Amino acid sequence: MVRTMIYPGTFDPLTNGHLDIVRRAVRLCDRLIVAVLVNSAKQTAFSAAERKAMIQTVLQDLRTVEVVHFDGLLVDLYRREGACAVVRGLRSESDFRFEAEMAAANKLLLPSYETCLLPCRIDLAFTSSSIVREVASYGGDISGMVPSALIEKICERFAARNSQQRPEG
Ligand code: COA
Repeated sequence: MVRTMIYPGTFDPLTNGHLDIVRRAVRLCDRLIVAVLVNSAKQTAFSAAERKAMIQTVLQDLRTVEVVHFDGLLVDLYRREGACAVVRGLRSESDFRFEAEMAAANKLLLPSYETCLLPCRIDLAFTSSSIVREVASYGGDISGMVPSALIEKICERFAARNSQQRPEG
């Protein structure tokens, strides 16, 4: 039996924290699906297609990883893919509360649903996509926060936004 796990998220953009979870999760299953949420209530800096392409660039050496978009309920993707668990990273107590609520809600929707929570590496516990976006928007150094293959793309996006927003005169 192929053991499929799903790592869902917005990934706007993928950070080194996410990458650490992916690299550890691939060892726990035969197939890992990194699932990029499309219809998030969040206003994203990168489109779903861009987020997916960025993740594919970073994970191309991992043969058992697939990157997909998803829209709608996570349990529907879980059922469709015949998954055995969803994997999520835990950075803090507040992450735990959110993850516990999400796990409970998803289990009500689908009794076979399981969650695998991996504690984050302590040095990455304060990294988040919004911190990356904030630092990049001020032209700061994001090299310790995101995979090196993504730095140029992220910096370009925020440089372009800043030049559009700069007042004339
Ligand atoms: N390293 C770094 N950052 C991490 C991280 C890690 N290991 N784990 C989480 N984060 C950060 C992200 O960077 C993001 O930061 P930001 O908000 O500052 O940008 C934040 O934690 C949360 O992002 P993410 O992990 O991508 O989760 P999410 O809340 O955007 O999405 C889904 C969670 C996709 C799993 C959930 O919304 C979902 O399943 N949606 C589908 C609809 C559904 O089924 N809903 C019912 C659920 S009960």
